[in-house]
Amino acid sequence: MSQQVHIFDTTLRDGEQSPGCSMTTPEKLRVARELVEMGVDVIEAGFPIASEGDFDAVRAVCREYPGAYIAALARAVPLDIERAAASLDGHLRPRIHCFIATSEIHLKYKFGKSQEEVLEEAVRAVELAKRYVDDIEFSAEDATRTEMGYLCRICEATVDAGATVVNIPDTVGFMTPDDYTEKIARVAEAVDGRAEVSVHTHDDLGLAVANAIAALYAGARQIECALNGIGERAGNCSLEEVVAIMKVRGDRVPFHCAIDAGRLYGASRTLTECISFGPQPNKAIVGRNAFAHEAGIHQDGFLKHHSTYEIMTPESVGVPSSQLILGKHSGRHALHQRIADLGYGNLDREQTRVVYEAFTRLADTRKGLTDADIADLLEELGFRRAAEVVVARV
Ligand code: KIV
Ligand code: ZN
Repeated sequence: MSQQVHIFDTTLRDGEQSPGCSMTTPEKLRVARELVEMGVDVIEAGFPIASEGDFDAVRAVCREYPGAYIAALARAVPLDIERAAASLDGHLRPRIHCFIATSEIHLKYKFGKSQEEVLEEAVRAVELAKRYVDDIEFSAEDATRTEMGYLCRICEATVDAGATVVNIPDTVGFMTPDDYTEKIARVAEAVDGRAEVSVHTHDDLGLAVANAIAALYAGARQIECALNGIGERAGNCSLEEVVAIMKVRGDRVPFHCAIDAGRLYGASRTLTECISFGPQPNKAIVGRNAFAHEAGIHQDGFLKHHSTYEIMTPESVGVPSSQLILGKHSGRHALHQRIADLGYGNLDREQTRVVYEAFTRLADTRKGLTDADIADLLEELGFRRAAEVVVARV
């Protein structure tokens, strides 16, 4: 039986706090609309104590989406919690997300406090937050470098104090899937079904998505992630990737979520318009090359049947179509097809050979040929367009 997993999106908080990603309130509202429409379970809209802008953005998202579950982040201190509560005031489905670091490294270098002092502060923070809202998420920052017995103890104590979700962040992206799974299993056992176990993974070792999926097998039922995988340093777990894994590999992965995968690409594009960079070209699902084929063998196979080189259709994740890129690795089949698409008719074998030779000479000197380059080449070789096709000149 497939189990439901909640998707907690932190694009507007962890994502937004990373370099080049800050957003104005109208931009946050544009992204929030995408998140609501695709069906995320919880939107972390900001860190209200951080700035007036963050506070206003959380309020604006609450106003615009009264039916959405909206979280506001707070350190485990009264001022932060009161500010988070004020930003959510009057909202139908508010969550206060309070966090405190728990690892020896953070206790020693950041706080100079003992485990007991931090545990007490965490409990007091949850109790205070509980006076404002019912739904409280507690995060043990740097949980994955925290001594295990203490991590379980602080999770139990915060659940006793009223936390409804306990989050085990891999704050520095240090985990491997087996290590993370073991830790999540220990926490799940300690919490014993009294709160939802959540995972929040960073991508410093490129394992954020693998770690989040692995954690589901140990009992986690909420994944924290961000569009385009944005977030501190190497980023957060990519929302697009975890959703696609559950959709495409439902045969092996016995978990599902409520996200409409057909909206992934559109949401990724909207985010890109709101921040200063887009996903890398080879980013899974939403990168420019995710459904692009340049190698001749791949193009030939793809033209015979898309399933030869694609494990999902572009449309299933909202990408308009696959693309055959003509470059020096391309083959005759794709070139022949493109020539026909450009309105130059169905060239015979000899004509295709002549064009192909000229094309490979040209492709050797360029990084990727546009339709206009191909059309110019055909005209130079004496071919004339049979059908009226508008060729994009970029
Ligand atoms: O990475 C982290 O530890 C965080 C927490 C605030 C959840 O972002
Ligand atoms: Zn984080």
